[in-house]
Amino acid sequence: MAKTKFVIKRLGILTGGGDAPGLNAVIRAAVKVAVRNYGISVVGFEDGFAGLVENRTRKLTPREVVGILPRGGTILGTTNRENPFYYPVKENGEIVYKDLSQQALANLNSLGVQALIIIGGDGSLKIAKEMWERYSFPVIGVPKTIDNDIAATDQTFGFDTAVTTATEAIDKLHTTAEAHHRVMVLEVMGRYTGWIALHAGVAGGADVILIPEIPFAVDKVCEKILERQREGKKFSIVVVAEGAKPVGGEMVVKKIVKESFESVRLGGIGNVVGEQIERTTGIETRVTVLGHLQRGGSPSSFDRLLATRFGAAAVNFLLEGRFGEMVSLRTPDITSVPLAEAVGSMRRVPLGCDLIRAARQMGISFGD
Ligand code: F6P
Repeated sequence: MAKTKFVIKRLGILTGGGDAPGLNAVIRAAVKVAVRNYGISVVGFEDGFAGLVENRTRKLTPREVVGILPRGGTILGTTNRENPFYYPVKENGEIVYKDLSQQALANLNSLGVQALIIIGGDGSLKIAKEMWERYSFPVIGVPKTIDNDIAATDQTFGFDTAVTTATEAIDKLHTTAEAHHRVMVLEVMGRYTGWIALHAGVAGGADVILIPEIPFAVDKVCEKILERQREGKKFSIVVVAEGAKPVGGEMVVKKIVKESFESVRLGGIGNVVGEQIERTTGIETRVTVLGHLQRGGSPSSFDRLLATRFGAAAVNFLLEGRFGEMVSLRTPDITSVPLAEAVGSMRRVPLGCDLIRAARQMGISFGD
């Protein structure tokens, strides 16, 4: 077995928050690297932090991870509702919130788990940071989200697959839009950032892309659509990020999920924009909300590679003692950064980036 700075005999893994294609690839890589190279046994916690608090586990051997590389979702299950520091407990028929982090810690200790890999988005990584800062429990974070909004890494896995799915949707909308001379509005995910909308919009040849980073005026959107009509292009494709908002206006909130550690659920801006376009231009307009299709399915090759590199690095970095950190892509390398630097600040689309410039120069409107 390879010699390491720290000795870890048993390692825990959990997946927290919304799923993203590539979670299984991280689990597979971490298990294979840990077992094959260092003789570490691996325990998976089921359903994210819920399994940690409730001590629901499964043994992860190389045999358990056979065939999971191309599978979407997570074999461990996940949830964005259970936070050990603010845990929902039923008391007298009512849900009350309690700090059950000591219970989670006791479970780790009784299982002999000496270090924990937490694969998650901002919410899960904040919990990882808390476990390290409050209890000095050796944790390492692995950033995942289709939204690509985590600071301190060039990219998260899951994003590339979501962009591919959204691009395919735009391709399909193009053919029907052209046939019917319609405006097609596609609402995509991304929470408070416009990464998915921007990348899929450019890759799919959209005419208008609306992102949270650039507040839009619907008149400008309509101007673009009418300009295309005058040029003889009788259809238009508008891609709207769920977090896009009009100048001086607010994002459209679909619902508040109180129990979730990411409580705001966005959604609905596509319909708002679609109605306004139809009313102003008189052109028949249809709206598609792509929704969770963006989270499902088999990860792209890029996401499988990034997830595999992250999973392998997470094990190696723990053995080097890089506790309380998050693995990160700093192209072309995989490195790690303190969790404190990675959480709480969002990675937004930079307004001066070359992709926005190229898009504008190609005639794409951002509604500004
Ligand atoms: O963060 C990933 C994400 O898919 C966002 O793009 C979206 O706003 C949110 O999660 C949806 O959450 P839920 O799965 O709880 O509906």
